[in-house]
Amino acid sequence: MKLLLTILAGITILGTKSTTLVIDARQGNEAQIVYYGSTVCPDDINGLAAAGYRGNSLYPAFGLKGADETAISVVQPDGSLTLDLKVSEVITEKWEGGQTVTVISKDPVYPISVKNVFKSYYEQDIIETWAEIGNEGRKPVTLTKYFSGHMPVHTGNVWLSSIYGTWANEGRVCQEPLTRGIKLIKNLDGVRNSHTAHAEAMISLDGKPQENSGRVIGLALEWGGNYELRFQTDDSDYHHVLAGICPENAPYTLAKGEIFTTPALAYSFSQEGLSGISRNFHKWGRKYRLAHGDRERKVLLNSWEGVYFNINEAGMDQMMGDIASMGGELFVMDDGWFGEKYPRKDDTTSLGDWKVDREKLPGGIASLVQMADRHGIRFGIWIEPEMTNSVSELYEAHPDWVLKAPGRDNVYGRGGTQLVLDMSNPAVQDFVFGVVDNLMTENPSIDYIKWDSNMNIRAYGSQYLKNQAHLEIEYWRGFAKTCDRIRAKYPDLTIQACASGGGRANWGVLPWFDEFWTSDNTDALQRIHMQWGTSYFFPAIAMAAHISAAPNHTVHRITSIKYRCDVASSGRLGMEIQPKNMTEFEKDFCRRVINDYKSIRPLVQFGDIYRIVSPFDGQGFASMMYVAPEKDKAVYYWWKLANFHDEHFARAVFAGLSPNRQYTIHELNRIDAMPLQCEGKTFSGRFLMENGLDLPKSNYPANREQSDWSSRVLLLTAL
Ligand code: GLA
Repeated sequence: MKLLLTILAGITILGTKSTTLVIDARQGNEAQIVYYGSTVCPDDINGLAAAGYRGNSLYPAFGLKGADETAISVVQPDGSLTLDLKVSEVITEKWEGGQTVTVISKDPVYPISVKNVFKSYYEQDIIETWAEIGNEGRKPVTLTKYFSGHMPVHTGNVWLSSIYGTWANEGRVCQEPLTRGIKLIKNLDGVRNSHTAHAEAMISLDGKPQENSGRVIGLALEWGGNYELRFQTDDSDYHHVLAGICPENAPYTLAKGEIFTTPALAYSFSQEGLSGISRNFHKWGRKYRLAHGDRERKVLLNSWEGVYFNINEAGMDQMMGDIASMGGELFVMDDGWFGEKYPRKDDTTSLGDWKVDREKLPGGIASLVQMADRHGIRFGIWIEPEMTNSVSELYEAHPDWVLKAPGRDNVYGRGGTQLVLDMSNPAVQDFVFGVVDNLMTENPSIDYIKWDSNMNIRAYGSQYLKNQAHLEIEYWRGFAKTCDRIRAKYPDLTIQACASGGGRANWGVLPWFDEFWTSDNTDALQRIHMQWGTSYFFPAIAMAAHISAAPNHTVHRITSIKYRCDVASSGRLGMEIQPKNMTEFEKDFCRRVINDYKSIRPLVQFGDIYRIVSPFDGQGFASMMYVAPEKDKAVYYWWKLANFHDEHFARAVFAGLSPNRQYTIHELNRIDAMPLQCEGKTFSGRFLMENGLDLPKSNYPANREQSDWSSRVLLLTAL
């Protein structure tokens, strides 16, 4: 690995494989970001000023700079609102994946220091930045804004791609030119921070966003709580991108000697379009962020859409038997299994009472684990440990453990009785740790936990904290501490982050989790859209995608089993269905799909993503693929989005292949009576990428059960 690091008169260069960040941090001056983009050689760096690159404040502070947008603002002990950050030192260090640059700035008048850290991940072309704000004085200082970083982006034909959506409609893509004024993306849920909007965005520098060409900057805030992404376009030649914890209603009092560390903002630059940014984030995420990012995920059946709260031993046994017979490897029992005094029959009671309901499950969890053993699969279980209901033994014993504003009544969520536990309280942290610890101590062979979280912070108040303004931050600190404890004791456990579906798809949360539930909406057509947007920053290995019933339980659409399977098998494949309601044909088909999936699992879960035709572009179909890093194998997905007679589509073109290698085509998940014309034929990667194939517009199943939903999955194997 070649590290590029040269220091020329206060200029610091942080390089990754294909990118360069240039910082001007001359002692006594305000630190500036001069350049971020494709790799620049040292000679050209000396010419940056002559080329018109001018510095922009690296971490703009409020008070002495007029009307500029700022990354940090404070109230000094004497009431002054000013902060002046002047470089005192720059420290550069290597670590095994790259290097770090720490710019230390101090205020010449007030005892405040700020360290802006930049950490490069050389191979993945990612740079993280965060700030460590220190109060070196004797009196408390109030932070009223404390973003993670500032990234100036030169104006031009610059477009923003952001991700939005809510329950059952996650992962929508919004693409728009960055125009004058402020574009503000934020989340104030408190708990589920990838609902409403995502803490990630991409900025295309060469006009309308393209999947596989053009320069793009991608950024992701690694923080599970409230956030802001600000894109300000002012009178200068720059868009100013600022990102961090949302400072609204959260002034932070920095005690004497205290250091506040902001979450990291990760960014990347690529010349290979939006998909290029996705590949960088996926590689980095799998290697450095996601729990067990190098471990294949099991094919599972989750009980939720199959039986909802109607859990019982015989039913669980039947579902386990069915998933095992289809080749699945894990069964997850969802909500509805717990509650002694208040058995959980619906969503109005029992959260917090994590004791098995013996009426439903006389043999307890132990007998379910044994059952799974007998079926040759593993067992997993659902919990929602950060929450309670007012109708629960937990609430009766500890009413002071819920978030509640002093002197005010509870504000309820789901079921009219749900409440959020106060994760800032160490006693609650112990309790939440204990939920997992007790389950695992009693049943050490539980393989998987689905950790849900179905409410936002509504009543803004802690019965534990002295400073109510710290609630948002202390909730997340408490959550992080608890997750650290769980991971220290149970490093091998698989844990899914669910939050009313896809509310916790965020790189700040995933280090403790193996995956997230992408959405409670399992409709294949809508999933194509949701999984598309979610894949901007999150890899398929983390994106739980389940085959479910038709009509779909959320949108009531009827799609074919083939279509549902082809969409789910582009993510972390699972099932969310009552198998006993499936026909023998459907079960048989799923058996084949699961078998085919196992053969492409490394490709889907560790391959490089190339999105090709977007479902948001109105082309009538969407397509994408995963390519093995060695480019010897690839899997291509083609999904038709609607059915009209006499349609004429573009040819199916491929991406990411090696132009000079020959690839043989083989259709997976095949339902058609006749093989495709291209079945078993061989083409060069160049031909496939430049000319592609004409695929039939519909499926023609052997059983003649034609449906208006058509799709293809093709495996490409290099000779
Ligand atoms: C949430 C989750 C679902 C399911 C239910 C159970 O809505 O997103 O997958 O677990 O809770 O109550």
